[in-house]
Amino acid sequence: MITKLAGLETIGVLTSGGDSPGMNAAVRAVVRVAAKYDLKVFGIRHGYHGLIHNEVKPMKNNSVSNIIQRGGTILKSARSQEFRTVEGRMKAAETIKKYNIDALVAIGGDGTFTGANILSKEHGIKVIGIPATIDNDIIGTDETIGYDTALNTALDAVDKIRDTADAHERMFLVEVMGRDAGFIALETSIAGGAELALLPEELMDIDDVKSQLKNMLKNQVRSSLVVVAEGDESGGAIKLAEQIRDDFKKYDMRVCILGHIQRGGSPTARDRVLASRLGAAAIKTLMEGHSGVMVGIVNGKIKITPIKVAVDRKKDLDHSLIELAKLLR
Ligand code: F6P
Repeated sequence: MITKLAGLETIGVLTSGGDSPGMNAAVRAVVRVAAKYDLKVFGIRHGYHGLIHNEVKPMKNNSVSNIIQRGGTILKSARSQEFRTVEGRMKAAETIKKYNIDALVAIGGDGTFTGANILSKEHGIKVIGIPATIDNDIIGTDETIGYDTALNTALDAVDKIRDTADAHERMFLVEVMGRDAGFIALETSIAGGAELALLPEELMDIDDVKSQLKNMLKNQVRSSLVVVAEGDESGGAIKLAEQIRDDFKKYDMRVCILGHIQRGGSPTARDRVLASRLGAAAIKTLMEGHSGVMVGIVNGKIKITPIKVAVDRKKDLDHSLIELAKLLR
């Protein structure tokens, strides 16, 4: 027997910012678990942009059939400049009022949570966040939805690059996404056996990079692979290549930027399960009367964290993994 919570009859759900594989699984879980609690659900298309411009549609159990395996987001996503303005947020709050939405479930990363936090502060709207970004840079959860898939996509690419690098005894600089965080870069470098990883969290000057690589190669000609986080101080793989190419002439250096391929594709089993757990937890957390929080999983258990904390604090890389990467070189 499910008891209803006073003042919670209708919810809105949106996906915002950079899409990540597993967002659909999260939307599915939100819609289906909300239905179990007899809540009415509105899906908002194009994130906060759609909230401002009335892109609101009712969702039922069958609106989310056959989507758990799909990358991208059926609700579409956007990065809304208008929502950054007071006027934009005013319009968004009017839409929420117009549809009698009692709480908003915001699925996304840092920018999405910043938006949810301001909206709740300015207009007293109940919000709950579900962390979904390939960058994995949100505190309060061991992993964000989409990270595992993106990591495996990057690894698959690195394995393939290694084959051709090996055949030609070339050096490859492979740039991965992550904005200003090095999670994808660090774990791809460990799993892909890279010779070196350049991370925003670990400052290394160009002379260091050169000497570490030279030391590793010790004058033997063999393939080598450097994973470069897009947010690294070097400015990314192209800039790094410009600075070190002349020192490694015999390796016929190549650069490969993996880019948005890391955002697409069918979510891994881990991401689908994570998204399903977090979607369900978001609704249960709302039913318990919470708002202004995000749901995460820490050490296998659901954990709630104030959205403000998730926005204000940066998630650290696991330093033991940085050490491990060094030990394995
Ligand atoms: O936050 C996810 C992410 O893919 C980052 O890794 C990357 O820096 C950024 O989004 C790219 O954004 P856009 O798709 O708007 O170019």
